[in-house]
Amino acid sequence: MRDAQPKAIQLADYRAPAYEVTDTHLRFELHDGYTLVHSNLSLKHNGDETELLLNGQDLELISIKLDGKLLSEADYTTAEEALILSNLGASHTLEMTTRIYPEKNTALEGLYRSGGMYCTQCEAEGFRRITYYPDRPDVMSVFTTEIIADAAQYPVLLSNGNPVSEKIEDGKKHVVWHDPHKKPAYLFALVAGDLQVRDDHFTTCSGREVLLRIFVEPQNVDKTEYALDALKRSMRWDEEVYGREYDLDIFMIVAVDDFNMGAMENKGLNIFNSSCVLANPATATDAAYQRIEAIVAHEYFHNWSGNRVTCRDWFQLSLKEGFTVFRDAGFSADMNSATVKRIEDATMLRTVQFAEDGGPMAHPVQPDSYIEISNFYTVTIYEKGAEVVGMLHKILGEDGFRKGSDLYFERHDGQAVTINEFVQAMEDANDVDLTQFRLWYKQSGTPVVEVLTQYDHAAERLTLNLRQYTPDTPGQTDKKPLWIPVQLGLIGHDGEDMEVRPDQPDFWTEDSQVLHFREAEQTFSFGGVVEEPVVSLFRDFSAPVRIHYQHSQSALRFMLQHDSDGFNRWDAGQQLMLHWIELAEKGRFKFTQDDIDALHTVINDIELDPAMVAYLLALPSESYIAESRPQYDPVAIHKAREQVMAALADTLSDDFKACYQRLNVSGDYQPVPEDMARRSLKNLALSYWAKADAEGVEAARLQFSSADNMTDQMAALRTLVAHGNQAEAEQALAEFYTQWQHDSLVVNQWLTVQCGSSKLGTPAHIRQLLEHEAFDWRNPNKVRSVIGAFANQALCHFHGADGEGYKLLADAVIRLNESNPQIASRLLTPLTRWKRLVPNQSQMMKSELQRIMDHGSLSKDVYEVVSKSLM
Ligand code: PHE
Ligand code: ZN
Repeated sequence: MRDAQPKAIQLADYRAPAYEVTDTHLRFELHDGYTLVHSNLSLKHNGDETELLLNGQDLELISIKLDGKLLSEADYTTAEEALILSNLGASHTLEMTTRIYPEKNTALEGLYRSGGMYCTQCEAEGFRRITYYPDRPDVMSVFTTEIIADAAQYPVLLSNGNPVSEKIEDGKKHVVWHDPHKKPAYLFALVAGDLQVRDDHFTTCSGREVLLRIFVEPQNVDKTEYALDALKRSMRWDEEVYGREYDLDIFMIVAVDDFNMGAMENKGLNIFNSSCVLANPATATDAAYQRIEAIVAHEYFHNWSGNRVTCRDWFQLSLKEGFTVFRDAGFSADMNSATVKRIEDATMLRTVQFAEDGGPMAHPVQPDSYIEISNFYTVTIYEKGAEVVGMLHKILGEDGFRKGSDLYFERHDGQAVTINEFVQAMEDANDVDLTQFRLWYKQSGTPVVEVLTQYDHAAERLTLNLRQYTPDTPGQTDKKPLWIPVQLGLIGHDGEDMEVRPDQPDFWTEDSQVLHFREAEQTFSFGGVVEEPVVSLFRDFSAPVRIHYQHSQSALRFMLQHDSDGFNRWDAGQQLMLHWIELAEKGRFKFTQDDIDALHTVINDIELDPAMVAYLLALPSESYIAESRPQYDPVAIHKAREQVMAALADTLSDDFKACYQRLNVSGDYQPVPEDMARRSLKNLALSYWAKADAEGVEAARLQFSSADNMTDQMAALRTLVAHGNQAEAEQALAEFYTQWQHDSLVVNQWLTVQCGSSKLGTPAHIRQLLEHEAFDWRNPNKVRSVIGAFANQALCHFHGADGEGYKLLADAVIRLNESNPQIASRLLTPLTRWKRLVPNQSQMMKSELQRIMDHGSLSKDVYEVVSKSLM
């Protein structure tokens, strides 16, 4: 906690470190109630200054020795969360002992306890809560770690790298680990506990055997198989697609219940939120399996994009995160349906990232200032960052991109570098000038592209006029035109793609069908276009922009049925649905026969991937709809969407019933793409059928009680909650809880279904659940399942007229501000959007933000978000 206003850190103030730490020796003594940390650092001078700044937070310094000589308080200065040594020479040995209290650590940064085990989380700045250290990513060191703990209570003692020695003396276990790869302190990890392990092996492309180990609490051993398989697939894929081989003889994953984020890529010892790694068919849904596959891959891929080549400073965070998200997306696309993956990513961008870009926390992919770095693990850094890398891929092509990434890894192996150096490697490998492209990293906000088309029948010529601008964002005005890749198709009346040949060949890449749009306004023309085409723009979501182009309703229906680009098929359908919902809001919605025919074709297209059909038929979520408008009224959106859903369900109820019955085949559950796709369509059909018809509710009831896997059971539960009557919903929820109360991850899903429901997720119900035995304020997953689900999904209740929803969220933020600032700050996101809401709501949201501000003693995390939101 702080009193004065915290200062912002500026990219422009970056200075290289004065001292390198060539070797870091750590010895941890884990005692009941406290832990002693002994460190021994080899320092080497490396700059002009002779001052060494060591970061430290909430530490008790027991002793400090320089070159063997004990220092007194007069020998060093202490500043806020730092210890400074001056007038140092060329090389030194620094030894320190600190005492820390992991059992009191509720922030879940540094060394803390989760359940019966000890674990660490050091990114971004958690290592400074363990011992005094230059806790910055450009200080890279070789770590040796000794851990000493009670042998009976903590038989498993882990750290990074390879095991060196192990012994038991006087009931204490001593182990030593050595990591030969230089790394920054944020990649350090330690785990101690009574854990079970599941082992496997992987032979790398050069023939080395790697031992793969997943450590879990004993009751979870039967939930480890899928993650291990996903890990092996990731290791193979990174060899084949990026030429990256694993570099240690052992790779470990540990599952912990209390974790602020999804998972962490610590060198050789990934630590995972248990919800992102544990699965078996009875307890995990298909969505959970897919998330696990993606996150296991993501953390594994960091071994190269993040660990071998790391970030110079935290302004470069997207260097590792944007690139690694791009890599895991490529992996997921290869393992499952590429189109579906693209739809999911674009949906996330349009709902969450565009909202961030349009709000008070808007920042560039490479920010230039922050108050608390934890607040910058955002969708902009991760997802927009990945889109920017994706545009480089579109511009350079598969081979050019690979040449660039090879050069990047080779040139910077073992270094801490900048985003600029990444782009430089892409430039050097491809001999292109990416100066203009770099603006994507520097300019915040979502670019808008306005499109006009004109067709001249006599001349057989199409003209395409493009204009771009990026709206102002906090601290940024007058933005420059970006290099925007526009993947383009022209569709003829037979539904086939026509040849695209612009008269400006310098702006066209034939292989990828990409038009390079680089000025504020540009006109392209296409000759030999024998009929007026339907213009399919930004295929495959080729750039993270808002598109302003008015397709006619009939063109949208046509694209929904015929576009060869799956992404744009889906997008056309979403535009139609958005239009219907808008009409419903104005009381003017009615299906036309053409609409019904188009939907018919889709639902009965048995050639098409069922997962794709499910996406084509799903209405945009309430937050997607909200985000497509400059200002919104969530309650009106909810009602209009319900009306369109009812109409869709009624109109096609026979089709949905038939579809459900056709796909509801029995057989062993398997988490494989074809089966997942089938289940996704089946369960979508079930929910529409139940919306239309009591018979559908009955089918859901039957599926709920007979399902042998969580995907089907959960889908049925959701359907009963959404479309059954209150008694049915409550009974199913009660049965579900009785069946699953012993399994915390399943209980979290049970909480989410209720709290995110537009039927049940009222503030009163949420307050009740906060008192439930299944809830625990110290566990971030529980907080997300209840408060996060409520504020992000049950929009009609969160934004209820009485303001109770906002009050509930603000109360939660104030409570968590002290115990877990990172979680408190993340929960705040929905309130930061207050300016976009209709006036009544907007005012009430603002006063809750003000109430948090007035509360005083805010953590940096919460202070930054609230103060920027009120500006
Ligand atoms: N670096 C982690 C990841 O992307 C995320 C993370 C950040 C985890 C900070 C914990 C703390 O994959
Ligand atoms: Zn990451």
